[in-house]
Parts: sequence; structure tokens; C-alpha cells
Amino acid sequence: MRKFLLYKPYQILNLPQRISLPQSLLIPVSTIFFNRISLTSPVMSTCAFQLKLDPLTGNSEWIVVEEQDEQDEVVGNNQNTFLATTSYLDMLNDTYRNMAYRRAIENTITEPCHVIDIGAGTGLLSMMAARVMDEVSGSEVEDGRNVTAFESYLPMGKLMRKVLKENAMEKKIRIVHKRSDEVEMGVDIHSPAYVMVSEILDSELLGEGLIPSLQHAHDVLLVKNPKTVPYRATIYGQLVESSFLQKLHDLYSCEVEVSDGLHLVPFGSKRILGIKPKQYAMQCSAMSKEIKLLSEPFRIFEFEFSKRPESQREIDLHINTTKDGVIHAIISWWVLQLDSTGHIFYSTAPEWIQSSKNQESQPHISGFQNWCDHWKQCVWFVPEIGSLTLRDTNVHLQAIQNITSISFRLKSNAGIEESYHENNNAGNYKINLLPERIGIYGDKDYRTAFLTAARNTLQAGDFRFCLVVDDSVFLTIVLAHLSKTAQIISIFPGLKEKASAYLDSVANANDIANGRIEVLGKRVSSLSLNDLHGEKVDMIIAEPFYYGNEGALPWQNLRFWKERTLLDPLLSEDVRIMPCKGILKACAMSLPDLWRSRMSLNDIEGFDHSCSNEMLGACGNLHPTLNGPCLPYFVWQCGVIEELSEASLIMEFDFSEPIRHCFGKTKIVFTESGVCHGFVFWIDWVLDKRNLTVISTGPVSRYWKQGVKLLSKPVAVNPTSSSCRKDEISYTEIDASFNPTTGELDIKCNLNHSQIW
Ligand SMILES: *[C@@H]1O[C@H](CO)[C@@H](O)[C@H](O)[C@H]1NC(C)=O
Ligand SMILES: *[C@@H]1O[C@H](CO)[C@@H](O)[C@H](O)[C@H]1NC(C)=O
Ligand SMILES: *[C@@H]1O[C@H](CO)[C@@H](O)[C@H](O)[C@H]1NC(C)=O
Ligand SMILES: *[C@@H]1O[C@H](CO)[C@@H](O)[C@H](O)[C@H]1NC(C)=O
Repeated sequence: MRKFLLYKPYQILNLPQRISLPQSLLIPVSTIFFNRISLTSPVMSTCAFQLKLDPLTGNSEWIVVEEQDEQDEVVGNNQNTFLATTSYLDMLNDTYRNMAYRRAIENTITEPCHVIDIGAGTGLLSMMAARVMDEVSGSEVEDGRNVTAFESYLPMGKLMRKVLKENAMEKKIRIVHKRSDEVEMGVDIHSPAYVMVSEILDSELLGEGLIPSLQHAHDVLLVKNPKTVPYRATIYGQLVESSFLQKLHDLYSCEVEVSDGLHLVPFGSKRILGIKPKQYAMQCSAMSKEIKLLSEPFRIFEFEFSKRPESQREIDLHINTTKDGVIHAIISWWVLQLDSTGHIFYSTAPEWIQSSKNQESQPHISGFQNWCDHWKQCVWFVPEIGSLTLRDTNVHLQAIQNITSISFRLKSNAGIEESYHENNNAGNYKINLLPERIGIYGDKDYRTAFLTAARNTLQAGDFRFCLVVDDSVFLTIVLAHLSKTAQIISIFPGLKEKASAYLDSVANANDIANGRIEVLGKRVSSLSLNDLHGEKVDMIIAEPFYYGNEGALPWQNLRFWKERTLLDPLLSEDVRIMPCKGILKACAMSLPDLWRSRMSLNDIEGFDHSCSNEMLGACGNLHPTLNGPCLPYFVWQCGVIEELSEASLIMEFDFSEPIRHCFGKTKIVFTESGVCHGFVFWIDWVLDKRNLTVISTGPVSRYWKQGVKLLSKPVAVNPTSSSCRKDEISYTEIDASFNPTTGELDIKCNLNHSQIW
């Protein structure tokens, strides 16, 4: 029987979840997401549809993914681009991870036996297992009886087949295109396995479906007392104070401080606009200087992979504080013990733990040494203002583990307990945004910029109809606050009804009269004059912020331009458009950690992976005929970083005109000497005509992702060309063109006239 699977667009980003969403797996299919998708959960099928999202319109189309052996035409570029924007490559390039797994697999498999690999990816762990098996049995086992690899994501399964072939392993490993928990004994496999190897761990450990996968494996796929790699995982946490982390979720306090008359989170409904109470993966080492540690690291949960895990657990922790301070967050990470003898470890701990005594008892911990994107630390935000604590106090923390995640409750603070309850009541119309978005909305400069620009614009004329085209509840409130006469129509393509419920409940606090705001919840393309009661629009405005698009490349927010173009027939002649202009900028940067993580693969623990580079989006050392992807990152979280040039203007997007092809060229003159690994791109949004107010989303900002284009080969740069060595350069040129149909930016860089990508 043929199974069909519909992949749906997964709207909220930065979360590697499938499991938490029932039935069909919600996988981010558009090229704009670059999370690591795990390969365990997507349902296998011989034919599947995938939803492709058009970043410029928000429209989506179904494309068919078909299994056509050795032919990539049908799969086409969409899948390729998709995998290229995930952290797959980075994961395979994590030498410490690979080495730890190889050593543990070698220690664990001591005789020929049946091994399963859950979420096999390119088949690296399966190949390691097959190789060991050959060694211990002294012969080549080529009937695929011993190693079974489960990989449900079809494009990845095809890539695995290619990699196995390159390594002459295709006869030794059986691929089952199913997620492991759909596998039936007697149908897909014929005997229980003695050994399970698997790497379906995300930064939070459980987000890629570890618990249900392990449960099913123990119920169906494995013998009693199986051997597993990894052997055990332990989650650690630490209490911290950090005003930056505080800003990422406590909008109420920020708003009190800004005190500009706007109330996105009025008193009494503080959590009506906030973050989802969950752990957020972040590179905490990047903020180590501004974090005050309030406790020693403490152990939270342990998971033994060789036992069937529980679906639900709760524990009470009593933690002694080591300093006075306010507990704003709990930072957590995990340490993996890969082998049963306790010799091979891998840790995702932040930098500052390296020297900590706690971990010294554990030999050979690896993972500290390298920055990587695929595993970060996790932050759990303590609600509201946090919890004031004195040194040597015993803090009561409850940790709750369920099937997909771990959450916390600080029990020793009555105010916090209350807020949990408020949160529950607000459940239905609460808007959850990402922490960075909350940070933006609490930012005084950001609010002032929009308030000033909107005020100036509104003063300039008689505005009857103002249209907010994106998902900005912020701008809707700004307009209603500033103009008592204009009718405000908000589209909210992503937030939809949630936004109107939200606006109703904050109307009073913002002094917004009934009926001032109309929420359409429609697509811009289907808007007609009827929706506007026959009136033309005098002002259109956006931040731009598209809910669910936060992980996108900066220029994908030019969706605003596209929509403004679609709206053309509905606009009055002297319509004001805000922002009125976007300026694409770039600067040269030294990004050694990021560059290493996106390096082309070749040999990984003895297995050739070079055939996977294009599909997985390698950048560094890429073959000259190939073009690596431009990827979105929070540059400030990319390990060691240094700006090597000023920001240069590449091109301008003029929103008073319809969307069109744009082309730009710039000379980037290096201002620092160092090694340039690539260029960072972002958009400065010009709010008013006189361009006095600009919102910059460049690398100095922590709230926006930038687009990063890495060089194939890093170059030495030196600002003073006279003293330049032969292999150094003092400037470079960048050409870029924006394609209004695809929303893509094509970037070319000429280093001393020899093109390098
Ligand atoms: C990435 O892979 C390349 C080639 O296999 C290797 O030289 C490089 O050291 C790897 N990077 C890291 C961070 O391990
Ligand atoms: C915490 O402090 C109390 C009292 O000083 C002490 O008895 C207890 O052992 C400490 N706990 C830990 C985990 O250090
Ligand atoms: C697990 O806990 C998280 C955080 O409390 C919650 O958001 C999620 O819905 C829970 N998942 C399940 C399956 O209960
Ligand atoms: C506005 O920006 C342009 C470049 O985009 C610049 O040439 C001009 O001087 C700026 N005007 C003001 C008033 O800042």
C-alpha cells in the first residue's frame, strides 16, 4: 500500500519539533528555515507531498517528493535547498561528536549481532557499526542482515544511499524508509536488535522525539537489556542573573521603564503577549561576560538509553545559591556518556563550565572545544521579574519532564506562582512570540523610532484609512494611539483572530475606542475595495514582521514590498508607505567558528561524505563550480566574530515603486587586518522620507538574524594596501541582485578580480 504524507508548513520557527505536533509532521519546508530537522519522525512513504512556502507572498504550493532511484530531477532543487539550510552539515562536521560515537560503537559492538540505527541521516553511525562488525567477525557481511538504518525523510534517505555506495557499504546496511516508531516486527525487520545506535538529540535533548522513539524501540525493536550508544544522558542546569535574558521575556517591566504611553502588556494581563513557557536554544557562551552565575551547576534528569524511559517525571531540587542576585533564568545543557564503561563523553555545556570543578571527575569530555550550531545551551526564563535571592539560600526548583520537553517551576516565590495562574487564564488569546521579538518590543529606541516616524507622517495629512499589512500588533496600537480619527485596518496574515482577541483585551489600557481597529485576517492578494468599505488606503505600514518568518533571511521580509505592490490598486494617490525604503548593507567579517562548521565534508571517521556537500549546503572549501547557500544566523552568537570593514550600502529598495529586480554593487574596504571568512548582509529599514529614522538589523543587534555568505576560502586582509603581502587584499567588490519572483538574493564577490564563489 502506498502511503501519502502531507508535510505542513511549520509556522513557528526555531523549534525542531515534529513529535509535539500530532499526526502529520510539521516540518519547515521552505528554504527560509534552517533548523536541524530530525529524521526520526517524518512518516515514511514512497511518495510524499511537501509544502513549499513562498517567502514573498506567504503562499504555499504542494510539491511531490517521489522516490525515483538515482534520479534527482523530480526532487529537484527544493529539497536540496531545504536540507542545505538545516544544521545537518554542521552536525556531521562536529568532529568531537563523530569521534565519540565511533569510539563508543567500537567499544560496544563486540560480536556480530543485529544493530539498528534510529534517524540514520547519511548513515554514518550505521557504517561505523557495519565496519566494526566486519572486524569482529573477521569477514565481510554483505547481506544487510546485521545493520538496519531507519530514515524516514525521503530526500535524506536518498542521500544515505549515495553515501553508502561511495563507501561500498550499500550491501551491508538495510535502509528502511520509515520512522522507527512505525516499524513493525516481522514486516520491516525480522528480529529484535541487540544494539541500538542513535543520535536524535537536540539542544533540549528531548525535542527530536527521543522519548517516544526509545519507548517504541524498547517495546518492539530491541531485545531485553540491549546495548545502546549513547549509554546515558544527564541534564544539568545553573541559576543565572542576566538583564539581557530578562529583556527577552519580561515585556511588562521593560514597558514600565520606557513609559511612552503604549501598553502592549497592560497591568493585570502581563502575560497576554509573551513567550511560550519552554526552553530556548541559545549560544549562552556568547553572553558569558554579562551573566552572573548564582549557583553551581546541578544535575536535573538522567536518561538511560538501555531502559524504557518514562513519559512523565517530576522532581524537586533544592539548590544552594552561591551569590546574591535575581534568578532570571535557568541555563541547561547535557552531558552524554556514550559507552557503558564511562570513558567517552560529550558535553554541550557553555564555555564557563570547562574550568568548573564539577566536571573534572569525568574524563575525556569532548564537545567543549568546538563551537557548533546544531547543539546549543537552553534557556528557561523565570516568569516576570525573576526571583530575588540571597547567597547561601536554598532555592526550591521543580523540574518537569514530559514526552517532548523539560520545564521548570521556581517554588520559592509566591509572585511567580501567581503568574503561572494568570498565564493559564489568559490561555485562549495569549500571543506567543519568540524571545527576540519580545526584546524588540521592549526596546526603547525601537519604539521611539516608530512612534516618531508615525507621528510625523500622521501630522502631514488627513489620514482616514491606515493599513497595517504585517503581523504587527505593535504598530496597530501605535496608530490607534496617535490618531484618534483614522480607521485602522490590520491584516495579520499569521496571527489572524488571535490578534483581534488580543487587541480587544488591551484596547482599554491603550485608550482605543470600540471599532477603531478592524482585523481582516485575509491574504493581501484577496483584498478588495469592499474590504475597505470603498475607501482607498492613505497609509500602509509594517515593521515588517511576519509571524512564523522569524528565522528567515533578512530580504525575505521584502514580502512587505511584494504585498504593497499587490495593494497598488487600493492605494490613494498620495499614500504614505512606512517603511519607505530598505537598504541592503553588508560588511566583511572574520567568522572562524562558523566557517569551520560549514566546511565541506570529505572524510568523516573513515567514511567519504564528499558527495553530500552540495545537498547539505557546504560553504567552506566548496568546489569552485558549486555555490554555497546564504544562511540566516544571529551573528553575535556565531562563536568568535570580528568585523573587518564598515557597513557598505549595496542597494536600495524603494517601496514607493512596485517590486522589481534590483541590482547593486559595492566596494568593501577593509578597516582591520585579519582573516575574512565571509560577508554579513542585512537590511536597514528607513521609516520616513527624510530618512532620519532607520531601524538597523545589522550584526550589532542581537534581535535580528543576518544573512551570512561564507567564502569558499578565507582570505587574509589588510587595510593598508601599501604594506600588503602578496596574499593579502585591502578591498573587495560585491555584486548582488534581488529577484522579485523568488525573493532570493544572488551574491557575487570578486576578490582581486578572481571570483571566489
Ligand atoms: C569539518 O569537516 C572538515 C572536513 O572533513 C574538517 O577538516 C573540519 O575540521 C571539520 N570541522 C570541524 C569543526 O570539525
Ligand atoms: C546546601 O546548604 C545546606 C545548608 O548550608 C547544606 O546542608 C547542604 O548540604 C547544601 N547542599 C548542597 C547540595 O550543597
Ligand atoms: C510538555 O510540556 C511542555 C511545557 O510545559 C508543554 O508545552 C507541552 O505541551 C507538553 N507536551 C505534552 C505532550 O504534554
Ligand atoms: C538619506 O539617505 C541617503 C542614502 O540612502 C543619503 O544620501 C541622504 O543624505 C540621507 N538623507 C538624510 C536627510 O539623512
